[in-house]
Amino acid sequence: MGRGNRVAEPVRRQDLLSRLREAQQRHGYVPEEVMEELAQALDIPIHEVYGVVSFYSFLSARPLGRNVIRVCKSLPCYLKHSEMIIEALKKELGIAPGETTPDRRFTLQLTNCIGLCDQAPAMLVNYDAHGDLTPEKIKQILKEYT
Ligand code: FES
Repeated sequence: MGRGNRVAEPVRRQDLLSRLREAQQRHGYVPEEVMEELAQALDIPIHEVYGVVSFYSFLSARPLGRNVIRVCKSLPCYLKHSEMIIEALKKELGIAPGETTPDRRFTLQLTNCIGLCDQAPAMLVNYDAHGDLTPEKIKQILKEYT
C-alpha cells in the first residue's frame, strides 16, 4: 500500500460518514442500495459500511418512525426504575425496543446515558428531553407527538 492510500483513508471514512448522514436525512434511514453504492464508490468493504451504520445511533438501516424515542438504559436511570418506563412505553405503543409502530408514528430505542442523570429516569423524544419520568407521565408525553 502506497503512502497516498494512507493519507486517503481517513478522508474516505469522513466522506462515508457525511454521505451516510445525507442519506439518513433524505430517506429517514440508509437504504441498502445506498450502502452498496457508497461501498463501491469509496472502495470500502460493504461490511464496514454496515458496521458504521449500526455503530452510530443517528444512522439506521431500517425506516424509523416520525418520532424516535430513546430511553436511557444506563445505571443511574436503571437504579431509578427505567425498566418501568420501558414497560409503560411497550404497553402504550404495543412494540418492543428496536421496533416501529405500524403507523410509523413512533420508533422505540434504548440508549446509553443522554446526560440527564440528575432527572433519572430520562428519555429523548427526537431532540426533546423528558426527565423524572413515571409510567403515568408517559401517556401524556406521547400525546404531544403526532
Ligand atoms: S444515566 Fe440516564 S441520563 Fe445519564
